[in-house]
Amino acid sequence: MKNTLSLVAIAAAILLFLFFLSSGKKAPVVPADGVHKGALTDAACVLCHAPGKQAPLKSTHPPKEQCLICHRLK
Ligand code: HEC
Ligand code: HEC
Repeated sequence: MKNTLSLVAIAAAILLFLFFLSSGKKAPVVPADGVHKGALTDAACVLCHAPGKQAPLKSTHPPKEQCLICHRLK
């Protein structure tokens, strides 16, 4: 049981490390403004941050799935 837990922790740490390596940049935190108050899930983000919507992402944006792995909520 203890071994399984540490294995999962190590795997998670390696994954995070790879994310930082591949982006090379730090993801900006999600602003704590009115616009973002109710947005707590990845599905919610895409309502505004998708092509043709209110605040589309740059074409150079890193992989766009699972926003909250990289962007911390304030
Ligand atoms: C209701 C529309 C809406 C939703 C939902 C939304 N955003 Fe935003 N987001 C905006 C707008 C508009 C801006 C630019 C103005 C601002 O800072 O509020 C912005 C700005 C940002 C920024 C700051 C970019 C910078 O240059 O600093 C980040 C990061 C971000 N959003 C991430 C997210 C994430 C992650 C989610 C999901 C949890 C999300 N947003 C949900 C509309 C939205
Ligand atoms: C792999 C990590 C990662 C994931 C996943 C990710 N982002 Fe980002 N995001 C970044 C980084 C790094 C930047 C800064 C890019 C730059 O400065 O050019 C950024 C920049 C942004 C910005 C600022 C404007 C722009 O286009 O550069 C917004 C808004 C944003 N992300 C929203 C989102 C949303 C919404 C999602 C999910 C659909 C998401 N991000 C998923 C790493 C990530």
